[in-house]
Amino acid sequence: MRVLGIESSCDETAAALVTETGEVLADVVASQIATHSPYGGIVPELASRAHMQAVIPVIRQALADMPEGLDAVDAIAVTRGPGLVGSLLVGVQVAKALAWSLDKPLVGVNHLDGHLFAVYLQRPAKGISEVPRMPYIGLLVSGGHSALYRVDSFDDISLIAQTRDDAAGEAFDKAAKLLGLGYPGGPIIDKLAAQGDPGAVRFPMPMASRKTLEFSFSGLKTSLARYVQTQGVPEDEQGLADLCASFQGVIVESLVRKSLLACARESLDQLVITGGVAANRGLRARAREACEKQGIRVFVPPPISCTDNAAMIAMAAARRLTAGERDDLSFAVYSRDPERRRGRFRPDGTLVERARK
Ligand code: KG4
Ligand code: ZN
Repeated sequence: MRVLGIESSCDETAAALVTETGEVLADVVASQIATHSPYGGIVPELASRAHMQAVIPVIRQALADMPEGLDAVDAIAVTRGPGLVGSLLVGVQVAKALAWSLDKPLVGVNHLDGHLFAVYLQRPAKGISEVPRMPYIGLLVSGGHSALYRVDSFDDISLIAQTRDDAAGEAFDKAAKLLGLGYPGGPIIDKLAAQGDPGAVRFPMPMASRKTLEFSFSGLKTSLARYVQTQGVPEDEQGLADLCASFQGVIVESLVRKSLLACARESLDQLVITGGVAANRGLRARAREACEKQGIRVFVPPPISCTDNAAMIAMAAARRLTAGERDDLSFAVYSRDPERRRGRFRPDGTLVERARK
C-alpha cells in the first residue's frame, strides 16, 4: 500500500509517499522560514496563505516519480491537529477533496503521533535504521510541545509529563530573538553552541528535583533576558558561542535527565527522541552518552524525520489504513491536543494509574 501523507499544521507545507512498512518513496517539504523570519515568529495568516500556494505543487512533486500520478496512491493521511487552524484547514480540505474525487480512504492524524512514530520511517538512501519495540518512552520536543509519553502501541499512547510553560523549541526561538540571531532559533543556537563552552555562564537548572518529570523553560528564558540586560549581548564570536552553549546545555540536560527518570519509573529501557528539537546535535550527543551509561537504548530519527514532514503523518496512519479503516469525510480539525492525552501525571510527578482500554 502506498500512503500519500499531507502536513500543513504549522509553517511547513509537506507531502510524502510512504509504504505501509514505512519505506519513504518521496518526501517533499516547502518551508516558510523566509516568509516568517522578518517577524521573528510565525504569523498565522501568512502561514495559511503560503500553504494555499504551496500545497498543490508540493503534492505534485511528491508524485513526480510515479508515472501513474495520483493512481499510485492507495490511501491518504492528513494532519488534523494540533496546530494553527487556518493552516490545518488547507491540508485537510485538499486531502478530503482528493479522497472524495478519487474514492480513496482518508485518515486524519494527530500531528504528535506523527512525531512519535517517525522513528519507524525507513529512508533507503540512508541505510536501514534500527527501530524500537513497543513499549518505549517517547520524548517529543518541538516548537509547540515538550512532553514525555509512554508508547505501548500505535493507538495506546499515554502522556506522562509535559512542560509547565514554554516548549523547548519555543525557548530556543525566543532566546535567538532576544540575542538578535534570527528565526528559527534552534538550528542557529545549535550551530553557535558547538563552538562554545557550556560551563561559561551558569544558568539555574529548571525543575531540578527528581520528584517531578515536568519541564519548565520560561524561567531559563528570563535568566537569559536578565543576563542580556546586565551584560549585553556578547560582541565577540566566542562570547556569543559560550552564551549559546550554556543556554542550550541547560535545556539539553533537563530533557535528558527527565527522560532517564521516566524510563526508570516506567521500567522501560528504550527511549525515542523526536520533534524538531531532536535535530539538536548537543541533545543527540548527550542523550547517547547518558543512555549508554544507564543501559538504555536510544533511538533518534535523522533530522529530516524529526522536523515537520508528511512522511511521519503517512506512517502514523498506516496501521489504521491497512486494517481497512477510514475516517468519515466530515471530520474537523483541532487546534489543541484532545483530552484523551491529558491527566496521567500529578504535579509532583507521581504516576496516575492508566485506564486500560
Ligand atoms: O517539530 P517542528 O519542526 O515543528 C513543530 O511541530 O513545532 O519543530 C520546530 C522547532 C523550532 O522551535 C526550532 O527552533 C526547533 O524545532 N529546532 C531546533 C533545531 N532544529 C529545529 N532546536 C534546536 N536545535 C536544532 N538543531
Ligand atoms: Zn511538529
